[in-house]
This record gives sequence, structure tokens and C-alpha cells, in this order.
Amino acid sequence: MLKLPHRSAPALGWAIKLVAAAGFVLPLSVSAQSATEEVTFHKDITPILQRSCQSCHRPEGVAPMSLVSYDDVVPYAGLIEYRTHLRDRAGAMPPWYAEKDVGIQEYKQDPSLSDEELAKISTWARNGVPEGDMADAPAPLDFDDTTRWSAGAPDLIVRTQDITVEGQAPDWWGDIPSIPTGLKEDRYVKSVEIREVNDLDMVAAGGTVGGRNIVHHMIWSTQVFNDDGTAEGIQVPWPVHEIARNPDIFDQDGGRLLRANSHVVSNSVHLHATGVDTTGHLEIGFRFHPVGYEPKYRPVSIGLGNGVDISITGNEDNQQLHAYAVLEQPTKIVTFEPHLHAPGERMCLEAIWGYTVETLSCVGYDHNWVRGYTYDENSAPLLPEGTVLHITGYMNNTETNSNVPDSRNWQGSGNRSVTNMFIDLGMRVAMTEDQFLEEMTNRRKNLDLGPNDHVIGCPLCLAPLVAPIELTEEDKEEMSEAMINYLTVTDDEKEKMPAAMVSRAEVQ
Ligand code: HEC
Repeated sequence: MLKLPHRSAPALGWAIKLVAAAGFVLPLSVSAQSATEEVTFHKDITPILQRSCQSCHRPEGVAPMSLVSYDDVVPYAGLIEYRTHLRDRAGAMPPWYAEKDVGIQEYKQDPSLSDEELAKISTWARNGVPEGDMADAPAPLDFDDTTRWSAGAPDLIVRTQDITVEGQAPDWWGDIPSIPTGLKEDRYVKSVEIREVNDLDMVAAGGTVGGRNIVHHMIWSTQVFNDDGTAEGIQVPWPVHEIARNPDIFDQDGGRLLRANSHVVSNSVHLHATGVDTTGHLEIGFRFHPVGYEPKYRPVSIGLGNGVDISITGNEDNQQLHAYAVLEQPTKIVTFEPHLHAPGERMCLEAIWGYTVETLSCVGYDHNWVRGYTYDENSAPLLPEGTVLHITGYMNNTETNSNVPDSRNWQGSGNRSVTNMFIDLGMRVAMTEDQFLEEMTNRRKNLDLGPNDHVIGCPLCLAPLVAPIELTEEDKEEMSEAMINYLTVTDDEKEKMPAAMVSRAEVQ
């Protein structure tokens, strides 16, 4: 990976500012034009920082520096331009790596910057970091729970006990005492988010996220116990916590049950030293659906990956790994979550159904930042039974990948950080045939689709518009209501169709 000299870049920012202040840099024509169109900190840069950066880059935030006031930001102008322009590659800020030129583009909580925003950052950083008029700035953010928790303030926060890791301690892997949630009634969970709170000096701490956190992963479940301490009912697994992971937002119709009197249990916590003695704990924030909510869908577990015979050659870039899984029922893909280790640089998810072969998402990967990508309500892939999911992992085991400690080594499969995993940990929900048809009918309506549109990840969404079928009363007797709705072309849809097609679609 290209490495920017971190110390010199802020200095560069200052130098640009000083030179610009002295009036040496800008050619006359540019300054004349800038009187009307100048990109300024308060008007143009602050809105970007508020939306995409300040949740972490604020006083007491998890990032090494605050990016709130003009004086905070100016020394980093050059470095901000560099890191934001990495876009979807390791090292990019904000840490979000979905590629913008392939696949589905609508995700929940997408903090990524548009081309226009990136251009503004460059113009601002290179034109002498003009401050502009404070009156143009949006109101400053309140750093309350809505900014600290990126999925919104939780309804219930469960806190682990304090854990201390000595500065030079070796890695530790084991269990923690179970923690009562204190929940008094069964509730369905909308999203869960875990954050580490520790006493590390974030400004002085090491550069990577791994250097700022002691809990590198926690595989956890919830369990209800009888009075005598024996387990009652099944243990419910929740998405694994990993360092720098963003929240898990469940499908809106696939809320997960957290039972009354549940305890959080874990027999797999991985602790890693930060270099100085550090004490911290995890906070697990649950957001609930309203009382009375009932989920329509249940999560389906699909093994999509290879944990057995990964083989990554030393000193070679662009090595591909492949894995496949067949969907056994109609399925909605709720999230895509590449899980790789150090050599991992990118992963793509593809859906193969009959003659349709489509890339759903390609995302960069930085082993310092584990990110999940939640599809928006109207972009989550709706795939028929029999679809083949295919993931491709791109491995860079060379010196250009700064996450690899020694690129001369061959690397195989295993649990440790120096061995490899290749999995899509994404969440999916299974649907009945009728639910699948309903989802597709709604998708057509919500997106106002016509026969010439295309929906990535929904090979059958438009079938009734492209090849309309005339339904007789007799046909309908054999069909479920969901099937009739799916096959019936509405008046709005007919308006988008050529006349010849409409006559074919006319229901007798
Ligand atoms: C989810 C939290 C988070 C968000 C959002 C985020 N950052 Fe960061 N940022 C960090 C952390 C943690 C580091 C240090 C570790 C690293 O470099 O990965 C960092 C490092 C940086 C650095 C390098 C600092 C140095 O001294 O090397 C820059 C520059 C930066 N961020 C700018 C931004 C900008 C600009 C945005 C928004 C467009 C942003 N970040 C969004 C957490 C975040």
C-alpha cells in the first residue's frame, strides 16, 4: 500500500495555509472566481465531516484526532485528502469500502463520500484551506448517544465486567463470566451494536484500530438459566463482535428474539495488548421493536466460505479464492460481510440463477477494519430457490499489503490471525414462496418499475412485466393471492409498457 509520511502531511497543510495567506499561491483568475464559488471550511467541509467523520473524530472519540473545529482540521488537510481519496481501498476514510462502480449501491448507514464531496476536499486542501464565514456552517453536532451509537441510542445496554490487559501481555483467548441482561420481558431486537470503552489515551495510542482496543473478538450468545444454574431452552447466537465492526441491523421483518432474563455468555473472547496497560469493557447496545411486534422471517444460516484448504502463495498479489453455496429456499440477502484475514484485500458476491449472473457487491477489505454492509430496504437481493451464491476473495500477500507481517510466508487456513479465513458472514432470511412473491410485488411498486428497468439481485422481479401472462379465472382458482398479485400487471405498470405488451397483459 502507498504510505503517506504521516508527520509531513499535516506540516504540508500548514505550509499551504501560510503560503496562501501570504498571497503567493493562487493565480489571480482563481481568486477572482473564488469570490463567488470558493470552497470553504464552514460552508462545504463541515457538513461532510459531520455526516461521515465526527462520530469517531470528536473529543473523546475513538479516532486519534478530533475533526470538529477549523483549527482541529487544518493541520490534517493533506492527510484527509489522501485518506478520503483511497475511496474503497485499505486505509480509506471513512472506513467503508463498497465499490461504487459495480453492483448494488444502496446501503443502510453508508457514510461514503460522493465524487463531488471528494472534489470539494481536494479543492479546499489545495487552495489554502479557506475558513469562510462561520454563519455558513451547519449547527454543531451534539455528541450525545445518537452520535456515540451509530445505529441510534439503544433501549438496553449490557456491560461486561472490566478487563485489564497488561501492556506487553501475550494474546489471550477464553471465556468471560456470564452477564445478566436484566431484561424483564421477551423483546424482538431491531439492531445490536457493540463498542469498547477503555482508558487508553486515544491521541497517544498506536495508529491502527487494533492498537486502540483490547477486545479483538467476542463470539457470544444469550441464554436463560434455571435457578439451579442449568441452561433453560436453547442458546441464541448473535453476530460475532469483531474489532472496529459496525452495528448489525436485522431485516425489519426478521427481528431476533431476546428472551426475558437472558444472560450474555461467551466462551471465545480474544484479548490483545495495546502496548500500555489498558482496562476496558464492552457495551452491548440492543435496539428493540415495539412490544407486540412479530417477525415474518427467520434467519437462515448458509455456509458460504472455505475454512479448510485455503492456499495463499508468498510474495504474490491478486490471488483468488472461490466458494459457492446453493439457496434451498427463496432468500433475502440482508447484509454482505466479508471475513478475511491479513492478506485479504477485496471480496465480491455474485448470484447465479439460470442465465442470470450478477455481481451483487464488491467491497475492499482492510483487516484493521471489519465492516458489514446492510442493503437498503429496497435493494436487498431477493433470490429464488436454486440460486448459486459465489464469493471471490482477492488476496494480496506482498509487501504492498501493510497488514501482512512477512509476505514471504505461504498462508493456509486456520483460526489465528497469521492463518486465514475466507467467509461471507452476511445475514440472510428465508421466505416462503408466497412471501417471496409479495416481496417482489412490493419491490416493483416501491421502485415504480417498468419493463425496461433492471433491478440488481432480483432476477424475477420484472418477469411479469417483460413476459406478461393473461390470467383466466380458472388459472386464478389454482393460485395463491400472492401469486395473482405478482402476475397481475397494474394500470400504473401498463402505462410504462408498449401497447402490444399491454394487450398481452390484459387480464380476461
Ligand atoms: C468509524 C470511525 C471513524 C470514522 C467514521 C472516520 N474515521 Fe478517520 N480514523 C479513525 C481511526 C480509529 C483512525 C486511526 C486508525 C486508522 O488509521 O485506521 C483514523 C484515522 C484517520 C486519519 C489518519 C490520521 C493519522 O494521523 O494517521 C485521517 C486523516 C482520518 N482518519 C480522516 C477521516 C475523515 C476525513 C473521515 C470522514 C470523511 C473519517 N476519518 C472517518 C476512525 C474513523
